[in-house]
Amino acid sequence: MLFHDIKFIPVNSMIDNRTCIQILHRQKVPIHIIRHCAVVARVGCKLADNLRSKGEVIDIDIVRAGGLLHDIAKMQAIENGGDHAEIGARFLESLGYYRVAEIVRQHVFLKEPVKPASSLSEELVVNYADKRVMHTKVVSLDERFQDLFKRYGENRLAIEKIEELYKQVRIMEQLIFSRMAIKPEDIQYP
Ligand SMILES: [Fe+2]
Repeated sequence: MLFHDIKFIPVNSMIDNRTCIQILHRQKVPIHIIRHCAVVARVGCKLADNLRSKGEVIDIDIVRAGGLLHDIAKMQAIENGGDHAEIGARFLESLGYYRVAEIVRQHVFLKEPVKPASSLSEELVVNYADKRVMHTKVVSLDERFQDLFKRYGENRLAIEKIEELYKQVRIMEQLIFSRMAIKPEDIQYP
């Protein structure tokens, strides 16, 4: 079932699909999180593929591995606290996967705020792809953020943080889709 989920993701990088899945299992990442990661990887690859066909320089293998591993420390952070993006990034750095670690580090918040003239990066593509996937379902930004406000908007500060993120991700969406012939709603699963 799991390999069925990811079989359409291209393989050819220093961390192939099988190694990513082995790392996820070794870290005891729950299956529902792995499935979410597999969908994010597929959405990211679809975007990367489209962008590359329009001449953008995006490494599809890095996007795939970053998507597959982005929530590697999610459960660990839920149980023990901490920033799951940073914990996951440091763990991958300890294995020597520095490039993918950076994608994981920036999958919730990008290091630099996005502007309408920002250039695209693998970090941006995975960050955006994650915002389009609620559990294993591809949804609109509106739907995803409604859920985020419901789940995490427990106080004024949290709400403001999510609002800021929402603003940033809408800019990402414009940046990505201004370079492609497809629209946000054309990204479906599978
Ligand atoms: Fe995620």
